[in-house]
Amino acid sequence: MLTEKIKTREKTMNNNITLVEPTIDLALEFLAMACEFQREKSNFFPEPIYDIKAYIQQLNDMALGRNLKPDMVPCTHYWLVKDGWLILGKSSLRHQLNEYLSHQGGHIGYCVRPTQRGKGYGNLILKLTLRKALALGLDRVLVTCDTDNTASAHVILNNRGVFEDNVVCKKTAKSISRFWIEL
Ligand SMILES: CC(C)(COP(=O)(O)OP(=O)(O)OC[C@H]1O[C@@H](n2cnc3c(N)ncnc32)[C@H](O)[C@@H]1OP(=O)(O)O)[C@@H](O)C(=O)NCCC(=O)NCCS
Repeated sequence: MLTEKIKTREKTMNNNITLVEPTIDLALEFLAMACEFQREKSNFFPEPIYDIKAYIQQLNDMALGRNLKPDMVPCTHYWLVKDGWLILGKSSLRHQLNEYLSHQGGHIGYCVRPTQRGKGYGNLILKLTLRKALALGLDRVLVTCDTDNTASAHVILNNRGVFEDNVVCKKTAKSISRFWIEL
């Protein structure tokens, strides 16, 4: 009974939250989120974004496989948006793996903006991005996280992640955990 009530509440809570592809309409909100990440010195937005229009164009080009650098694969970017304007986080869905992604990047990356963490949005953003992966035609995806990133490991396991192995990051020598998720 209680579980049902919680599920209904979650559904209502998440009804007005969707993934949208980058759009200039939400540019200011996106920049506000990027500033939050810069303040926590994360590597999601290490540099200030000076030309938001060009940045959004670049993201949308990547989804179509346009102007890719030699080592890049097509990748669709999503923003998790509440009530049509509040950006809660972002995710990236790589359409295929290359050698680097097979080793440590995986198909999907995600993050929740610092002021919105701990509210279930990490679990939600991966869940919704997995649906996009299925729609893209993938039947299983690789998702990875730093082995000491407990929150991210929870997000992956909560989304049916099955642990594959730990590998060593080629750039930082840190341990990275790899999980497969059947779609
Ligand atoms: C990882 C991240 C996406 C989680 O987002 P979030 O919105 O806080 O996650 P949720 O609220 O959905 O919580 C997800 C799970 O993580 C757990 N969790 C959240 N914060 C945690 C913390 N600081 N330590 C341990 N576990 C934590 C929650 O308990 C929850 O698990 P449960 O549902 O089994 O109880 C967010 O912390 C983030 O963006 N971090 C920086 C970027 C990053 O690490 N991205 C992942 C790269 S692989």
